[in-house]
Amino acid sequence: MTFHVALSFEDGVTRFVDCDADETVADASYRARINIPLDCRDGACGTCKAFCESGRYDGGDYIEDALTDDEAEEGYCLPCQMVPESDLVLQIASTSLVAKTAAASHSSTITEVRRYSDTTIGFTVEVDDRGSLAYLPGQYVNIAVPGTDVTRSYSFSTGPNAGTLSFLVKIVDGGAMSTYLRERAEVGDRLEFTGPMGSFFLREPARPMLLLAGGTGLAPLMAILDTLRENAVDRPVHLIYGVSSDADLVELDRLRVFAQDLPAFTFEYCVSDPDSAAPRTGYVTGLIEDGHVNDGDVDVYLCGPPPMVEAVREHLHSTGVTPANFYFEKFNPAAREMSQVA
Ligand code: FES
Repeated sequence: MTFHVALSFEDGVTRFVDCDADETVADASYRARINIPLDCRDGACGTCKAFCESGRYDGGDYIEDALTDDEAEEGYCLPCQMVPESDLVLQIASTSLVAKTAAASHSSTITEVRRYSDTTIGFTVEVDDRGSLAYLPGQYVNIAVPGTDVTRSYSFSTGPNAGTLSFLVKIVDGGAMSTYLRERAEVGDRLEFTGPMGSFFLREPARPMLLLAGGTGLAPLMAILDTLRENAVDRPVHLIYGVSSDADLVELDRLRVFAQDLPAFTFEYCVSDPDSAAPRTGYVTGLIEDGHVNDGDVDVYLCGPPPMVEAVREHLHSTGVTPANFYFEKFNPAAREMSQVA
């Protein structure tokens, strides 16, 4: 039996290796020419110590100097000794450069461009080597903007097992990707990208979840919902989706389908523009209720602009609730588009 092991490096690069049930993660990594940190290979030095984000494994034989019982209890592990019992996600204590690897490159063809409004465009691609592209729900890739020498980072809005892969883009005047999508993008265009990247991804669902999306920060959360649906996760999941204007409000139909398919999934949305026609105006924090944070027994996943991340932090702090886990990804579409254009 073979399992997929995701190796998440400190610089955000994630590589996937196939690991047999009787093979150590270190052996599988080196077989794939990924040189994760190693020294003794014998469970004695602790050099390879990693953190397991999700999955089951047999930790193998090692001494206390290499890994204490407390560390093992917390989820630390020794790739030179461990063998997988399921797919795994490991945080590796080095950069991809040190491990002599890098983000993988992929080529794709645009199959659909959805110009939702003046502010938001979605597109879908078919990847040439789909079988060799693995990612974790929530992760992003760096896409080369056709006709330019710049790249932009976008999260998949579809889960890792989808046949074709989709993205959501906030349109920024003068931005390289925005200009391409608004003026030139057509079905059949070729797109190159590298990845996957990022530490914002779905962990093993262990408790209720609160998903908070700001604008096109909805994309990685939809990839997460795709995976929750595929795995028939029955834990309560509530999404609050906030945007600035009615033109930013997209993919509500897809969210309604998730709500039909996932019995324990509910969602609300709000628009901060006071003149909006939406049923709720204001900010995401205004919709967070005590029940959503479940006295702290909740995993919060937030993707949105930096002020939203800070506002949610402050809101939770003011209510005295500390979530069991708070995973977030900050992004600023304008800064991202403009900072690399020059
Ligand atoms: Fe020494 Fe793994 S390399 S404990």
